[in-house]
Amino acid sequence: MATPTLDKVSSPGQDSSHLVTVTFRIRRFNPEVSAEASWQDFEIRIDPKERVLDALHQIKWENDGTLTFRRSCAHGICGSDAMRINGRNRLACKTLIKDITEIKDGVATKPVLVEAIKGLTVLKDLVVDMDPFFQAYRDVMPFLITKGNEPTRERLQSAEDRERFDDTTKCILCAACTSSCPVFWNDGQYFGPAAIVNAHRFIFDSRDEGGEQRLEILNDRDGVWRCRTTFNCTDACPRGIEVTKAIQEVKKALITRRF
Ligand code: SF4
Ligand code: FES
Repeated sequence: MATPTLDKVSSPGQDSSHLVTVTFRIRRFNPEVSAEASWQDFEIRIDPKERVLDALHQIKWENDGTLTFRRSCAHGICGSDAMRINGRNRLACKTLIKDITEIKDGVATKPVLVEAIKGLTVLKDLVVDMDPFFQAYRDVMPFLITKGNEPTRERLQSAEDRERFDDTTKCILCAACTSSCPVFWNDGQYFGPAAIVNAHRFIFDSRDEGGEQRLEILNDRDGVWRCRTTFNCTDACPRGIEVTKAIQEVKKALITRRF
């Protein structure tokens, strides 16, 4: 189904020469309308320096108000707008249209494909049920665990000790890694890369004393050994976290019991 072309800048006197025509092919799903998902094309005029999130807003506000997607910060911090764009998991708010299209004579040569991330149940359009994802996150106890009495001063840590888990502190829980993992697609019971990344963040924290508990949780049949080292997670992470490396470090800690 195609829609009429709308200019983002259409007021008389405003220069719209920087706008190009781009077709966004979006996988739509509304269980109240049909049990089947289907693709819908929206042809819009937009500045290619805008982001895919801006295009989705334009479509929602000007073409079809029923288009449903999550977003909050619009600046790569909240992690709510992970979606598959041209077959790859990305944050819509961090993806420039010019970086994923080829423009010739003011028209994108191919449609931009936008669909929900895989492996989680689609609720509507680009919105998936994140409950299993957050349950796996909660299961690894992503908080500082300590024994004994509260210290009377702050818990000190050397710069070297802080460095050990610096990379995994950057996670924004967007699910781009977990939903790009073929093991997770085939078995949603697998904890998935994001949960392991967040376990890593505390296992390797010198102030934490819950490492053994977390390692036992990840020693489960649905735990860290399910990872097949495909690197999809590392490629998908919008924060540049070395996800596969973190998973390998947790595996090593499980074998050596040194962390
Ligand atoms: S590790 Fe990266 S891709 Fe995975 S949830 Fe965290 S920020 Fe998103
Ligand atoms: S909207 Fe917050 S990360 Fe994209």
